[in-house]
Amino acid sequence: MEVVVGDITRLKVEVVVNAANQQLAGGGGVDGAIHRAAGYEQLQQACRKLGGCPTGQVVVTPAFNLSARYIFHAVGPIWRGGGSGEQALLASCYRQAMVLANELGVSSIAFPAISCGVYGYPSELAAPLAVFEVQKQLDQGSSLQHVIFCCFDEVIAGYYRPLLA
Ligand code: APR
Repeated sequence: MEVVVGDITRLKVEVVVNAANQQLAGGGGVDGAIHRAAGYEQLQQACRKLGGCPTGQVVVTPAFNLSARYIFHAVGPIWRGGGSGEQALLASCYRQAMVLANELGVSSIAFPAISCGVYGYPSELAAPLAVFEVQKQLDQGSSLQHVIFCCFDEVIAGYYRPLLA
């Protein structure tokens, strides 16, 4: 597991995880960046065929113009104070992405800080949860050799680094 600060669309990995919405309709933040880099029209066409994705779940599309093979669209919870199942739903995103990666036999994946932007999940709570869930899946055996937590800024990266040291 590694922390990288930067733009997730520039990473050389087999799977790029997107922080999507239930409609898979595209948006701003990392979703917008992934759509622009993958090719907006072709990615939206692939998303429309899937017909949406419930919160806490993950669906897969090709990665089109990205160098990755797949985009995993994870729908994180909107933070409502922590008493609405947010933790379990966010954990489910990481778990499902890890399980799916193993099923597809890929060796590398990059996660953004799902839910930590517009959806308001506190990064200091999301980082340990992400690392815990990923570690748990790696411990159970996985095709994954390289898991990147891609942080857009140093502040969020600062929550991951002590956990991976
Ligand atoms: N690479 C890596 N991380 C990025 C990038 C990028 N290019 N752009 C933004 N981020 C970071 C943000 O700084 C934040 O830490 O990704 C994290 C997640 O933020 P959001 O993209 O706002 O995702 P989220 O909080 O899950 O909200 C999802 O926002 O864009 C819409 O369609 C999306 O409705 C959905 C909602």
